[in-house]
Amino acid sequence: MKLAPSLLSADFGKLRDEAKEVEPLADFLHLDVMDGHFVPNLTFGPPVANGLRPGLVRPFDIHLMIDHPRVYAPQFSVRQGDLITFHVEAQDDAGATIAAIRSTGAGVGISLRPGTRLERIFPHLDEVGLVLVMSVEPGFGGQTFRPEAVGRIRALRREIAEREVMISVDGGIGPEHVRDLVGAGAEMVVAGSAIFGKPDRSAAMRALREAAA
Ligand code: DX5
Ligand code: ZN
Repeated sequence: MKLAPSLLSADFGKLRDEAKEVEPLADFLHLDVMDGHFVPNLTFGPPVANGLRPGLVRPFDIHLMIDHPRVYAPQFSVRQGDLITFHVEAQDDAGATIAAIRSTGAGVGISLRPGTRLERIFPHLDEVGLVLVMSVEPGFGGQTFRPEAVGRIRALRREIAEREVMISVDGGIGPEHVRDLVGAGAEMVVAGSAIFGKPDRSAAMRALREAAA
C-alpha cells in the first residue's frame, strides 16, 4: 500500500517542515488545492506548491478541487513521478484537462465525489493512471469516513480490469478502514488528520501501514 499524507491537516505556517517530517514514511505528499468554487473552501495554488518543493524528495500527489483544472494544471512545476488529479465534475472538459495534465509530464488522475456515479469516469479509464475515490465530500479535512467507498472501489477494480490504473482513496481514513480499502483494491491511501492530528506522525503512519499488512 502506498501512503500519501495530506498536508491539508498540517500547520500551514510551517508547511515545508511538516512535509519533511512525514517524508521518510510517505510515498507521496498529497496537496489539496481548493478554489472556493468547486468546494466551499480555499487553500493554495501553484505558487505555494511550487515554492514548497525545494528540499523535499517525495513526489507530489496534487488533488485539484477546482472548477478549472485545465487552466491551472500547467502552472505547477512538475517533477518526475508527480501526479495531478482533477475532478470529473469540474467545469473544464475532461478530455482537454487530461491533455493539459499530460503535457506537464505528471501522471494523470481523475477523481469523483461520493455522490457521483462511477460510470462518469469509465470513458476516461484508458487515459488516466490513477482514480482517486473520495470517501468524504471534498472540501475539508477531519470528516467522517463514508463506508460505501469500499464497495465503489471494488466495482471500480472490476471495471479497470487489466488496465494499469492505480486506485487511491481519500477522506476520513484511519487505521480501522485500511484493511477493507486495500482488500477492495485500493493501492494508495491518503490520510490527513489521522497523521497530522496525532502528536507522533511517524507512529501514526506506521499504524496505517501495519493495518494494511
Ligand atoms: C478533502 C481532501 C482530503 C482530506 C484528507 O477534501 O481531499 O485530502 O483533507 O484529510 P482527512 O484524512 O482528515 O479526511
Ligand atoms: Zn485530497
